[in-house]
Amino acid sequence: MLAIIGGSGLTRIATLEAPQRRVVRTPYGEPSGALTFGRLRGREVVFLPRHGHAHSIAPHQVNYRANIWALREQKVNAIVSVASVGGIRADLGPGVLALPHQLIDYTHGRRGTFFEGPDQPVTHVDFTEPYTPRLRAVLVEAAQAAGETLIDRAVYAVTQGPRLETAAEIDRLERDGADVVGMTGMPEAVLARELGLAYAAIAVVANFAAGRGDSTHSIALEAIGAVLTSAMERVHHILEGCVERHDS
Ligand code: HPA
Repeated sequence: MLAIIGGSGLTRIATLEAPQRRVVRTPYGEPSGALTFGRLRGREVVFLPRHGHAHSIAPHQVNYRANIWALREQKVNAIVSVASVGGIRADLGPGVLALPHQLIDYTHGRRGTFFEGPDQPVTHVDFTEPYTPRLRAVLVEAAQAAGETLIDRAVYAVTQGPRLETAAEIDRLERDGADVVGMTGMPEAVLARELGLAYAAIAVVANFAAGRGDSTHSIALEAIGAVLTSAMERVHHILEGCVERHDS
């Protein structure tokens, strides 16, 4: 079964048929909220809002381990994450949808592995390609079929937040090779990999990153809500096509 983790601007999927909420507990604590099971285009999916149903959990406070563990426990084999980001590259302005193929992790202090504790053997996972190529391909196909533009390949810099970056930090991220910047891409992606789940992310550009485009002097936070609302409609079309194509 496919899971969708929604970020800012996507706290529920209104078109989910026969939705049913289920509270799940894990050895790592509570997930961000109850899981919502339902059908999209006739296929079973489960939805989890990363920041909680009331959008009250900050990026650095999300219990990523509980979220991923809970989904795996419910027989999820693939996760599509939706995450709002700032655009660093000139062509990645507000409203653009991008499909990251790489990430750089700048976060700190987050619980980022299941492989720890006295009884656990030291385990390293391969993370050369942090996003599952097959699932990315399904998203590309779904976007094409829905007539929605999804920019394929972007490097996602994951910052700690919750504050936004300085212009100099964005310059540094750009020198590092980053195209978009967000706060929730990690450790979500690696935890999915540790449990053997396919994982891909749709990055929804909410604003130009600090010092870029119309954010030269400041980021117009009040404009972000409207950008995300209209972008999520397009994300929705892509998700529906993805669910239809995903072989459960
Ligand atoms: N920086 C980090 N995370 C973000 C941004 C940003 O500019 N916009 C949306 N999420």
